[in-house]
Amino acid sequence: RIAYVNGRYVPHGQASVHIEDRGFQFADGVYEVVTIVAGRLADEQGHLTRLARSLKELSIPWPVKPRTLRMIITEMVRRNRAVNAQLYIQITRGAAPRDFRFPVNPAPTLVITCRRTAFQPPALLDKGIAVVTMPDIRWQRRDIKSVSLLPQVMGKQKAHEAGAFEGWMVDDEGQVTEGCSSNAWIVTADGVLVTRQPSNAILNGITRLSILEVAREQGIGFQERPFTVAEALAAREAFISSATTFALPVTRIDGQMIGDGRPGPLGRRLRRAYMDHLG
Ligand code: PDD
Repeated sequence: RIAYVNGRYVPHGQASVHIEDRGFQFADGVYEVVTIVAGRLADEQGHLTRLARSLKELSIPWPVKPRTLRMIITEMVRRNRAVNAQLYIQITRGAAPRDFRFPVNPAPTLVITCRRTAFQPPALLDKGIAVVTMPDIRWQRRDIKSVSLLPQVMGKQKAHEAGAFEGWMVDDEGQVTEGCSSNAWIVTADGVLVTRQPSNAILNGITRLSILEVAREQGIGFQERPFTVAEALAAREAFISSATTFALPVTRIDGQMIGDGRPGPLGRRLRRAYMDHLG
């Protein structure tokens, strides 16, 4: 396994960053996770566009030109002989003596790692996953894909301890914002596909955007709006989306069965269509 750190390709176990990196001290950085399917990056352009946006929102300079980043990514796929894998890209504001204010001449840190993965086993797709709900205790700029992930770390652990795969976070109005590391979807009791609209309250998932595009192409109607936990519990179907899970059926929320307790047809169809769209 080869990692990339600031201009160097190094064996994964030997890769390191400075102890005064602002990513380490302040979580002052952003990231992307891109899945490699059959040697090709899924939704690469979407992820790089969102990375650019996250950097801009935090005034973190590009460590290399976007064009160079693309070349490094291609080289990482090649050097790791990545077929089915996950690529992790992290950019922080770099190493500097600890001071909350931005360093005057920041040298951002770019780290890229690659990990082989097996995709969701068919058994999981057949059974669907369990989700538990929890208060959304995050900050108000969830649209930025920041490495500041403590609420999600706590949430995922809580979900894990409850025997669930994902946590759905709920805002003060009782509306689901999103999963700890995924977007949340339901098919309402009336058969309408619903996922929350992009805003500062959620991360606008790249997989989410692609699934909406696929739905549009297939003439599947949808609504982008918040939904409550009660509406989700009464839904016919539910699923999550992310770069690592694609569309993954949810069959239990807070221990309650969704629909007939089996993955629903629309979620299945969208997953298949999304996989086809990857080519
Ligand atoms: N997480 N919402 C949150 C809070 C996320 O962390 C993610 C992705 C998503 C889905 O976005 P996308 O479809 O672009 O992956 C939504 C990644 C996979 C992670 O942190 O591992």
